[in-house]
Amino acid sequence: MARLVINRKKTLGHINPEIQGQFSEHLGRGIYEGIYVKEDSGIPNKNGMRTDVVEALKKVKVPLLRWPGGCFADEYHWKDGIGPKEQRKKIVNTNWGGVTEDNSFGTHEFFELTEQLGCKTYVNGNVGSGTVQEMSEWIEYMTFDGVSPMAELRKKNGHEKAWKVDYFGVGNENWGCGGNMTPEYYANLYRHYQTFVRQYDPQNPIKKVCGGPNVADTFWTEGVLSTCFKAPSPDFLHGFMDGLSLHYYVHPGGWENKGSATDFDIPMYYQSMKKALYIEDLINLHGDILDKYDPEKKIGMIVDEWGEWCDVEPGTNPGFLYQQNTMRDALIAAVSLNIFNNHCDRVKMACLAQMVNVIQSLILTEGDRMILTPTYHVFDMYKEHQDGELLDSTLTGNEIVGTVDNPVPALQYSVSEKDGVITLTIANMDLENDYPLSIEIDGEKVKDTSAYILTGDVHDKNTFEEPENVVKKEFDGVRINGNNAEFTIPSCSIVSLQM
Ligand code: AHR
Repeated sequence: MARLVINRKKTLGHINPEIQGQFSEHLGRGIYEGIYVKEDSGIPNKNGMRTDVVEALKKVKVPLLRWPGGCFADEYHWKDGIGPKEQRKKIVNTNWGGVTEDNSFGTHEFFELTEQLGCKTYVNGNVGSGTVQEMSEWIEYMTFDGVSPMAELRKKNGHEKAWKVDYFGVGNENWGCGGNMTPEYYANLYRHYQTFVRQYDPQNPIKKVCGGPNVADTFWTEGVLSTCFKAPSPDFLHGFMDGLSLHYYVHPGGWENKGSATDFDIPMYYQSMKKALYIEDLINLHGDILDKYDPEKKIGMIVDEWGEWCDVEPGTNPGFLYQQNTMRDALIAAVSLNIFNNHCDRVKMACLAQMVNVIQSLILTEGDRMILTPTYHVFDMYKEHQDGELLDSTLTGNEIVGTVDNPVPALQYSVSEKDGVITLTIANMDLENDYPLSIEIDGEKVKDTSAYILTGDVHDKNTFEEPENVVKKEFDGVRINGNNAEFTIPSCSIVSLQM
């Protein structure tokens, strides 16, 4: 029997709700159709936002939304997306399928959406093809409440009060689609551009996110940080960088041949899980470099793009990145969120790519229909970790499973406490074996347990015809034995237990 001992007296860090953040880009049907259908649509909506989608997202307590990209951000000129909709510029979305972008979803619509969701805002600025002036005017437009040209323009466009920007990204992937820059060149631009991200509301400062590495690119991390921190004065350092981003996708078969989201064999499944677990190595790798420059861990690691990125669904636009979602995705989400929790001393935010209809989504839509993916249910089961304190714990008796090439631990978990309630989320990646588990809390008696489970065949998915194949269910397998809780975690499953 595996044994988990939880040390309630030792907390290891605060789990920022933003760790369960989301990302929506102007890409395929992610925003248009998936979220925003315009006010005159036959699909029920509030100010253009689909009611079904917004309600589903509220249930999982989406804490934060990143927008407008992604690669799109470095070609986005925000003034194209304000003012009367019929007068907004129509542009070509060069990154994603070459389709016409009519800019009907812009700054005002983004804040309308985040207000409906009740979540924090993360706006990504344009460094690749935008100017310092354009970026600084956007900040003024969004956040300045006094008298100024941009504040007046916002009022003229119908919004009297300034909005709150919680996080602002200074460019995106500037090593690639954001300009193919060298780390030193980008870092100098970062120093320059971030200066003009003015803090119009000092009580609610905008947190500035510097563009970080892709996967294991330590050359980028080291180059950017060494240039950013060159000869800094304490004043310069104050508030000039609150986060450094990290992007990592699980491409099951690799970047060139990613593989199907639904049709995969068992070795490919274990390869995917091994790749999902690798994000922990990346957090440590880049975290070690950050530690050199920021030993007090004031700069958060912002994993603002993560997820399983497969081939698009057959017959769909290759530029739209629309893919299905199975129990494999659920397990990838479960272990990734556990890893982020377990590194909450450094990881301050993570955004699933992408919330609706793109890559590893929470929700898929087709016309007026909507389905919740297995990944959605994982976020639903993990939401109690938001604002929890990570607890120290030890797991013994865990097995190594998988294949010779891709061994993985059977069980993987995180545990936190909030308001006297302990939440454990645990995944069993083994596709064959169930594991009995005993849980001990420092000799205290475990009581008042409630639990949910998400389980099925690893290929199981929800479809528009069968939307409830994979749903979280109440789990009644937990028994109290003496002081401890015990249950058997079935193969290919995720359990959330509250005590
Ligand atoms: O999420 C899709 C794309 O992946 C984003 O636009 C980009 O930042 C990354 O390469």
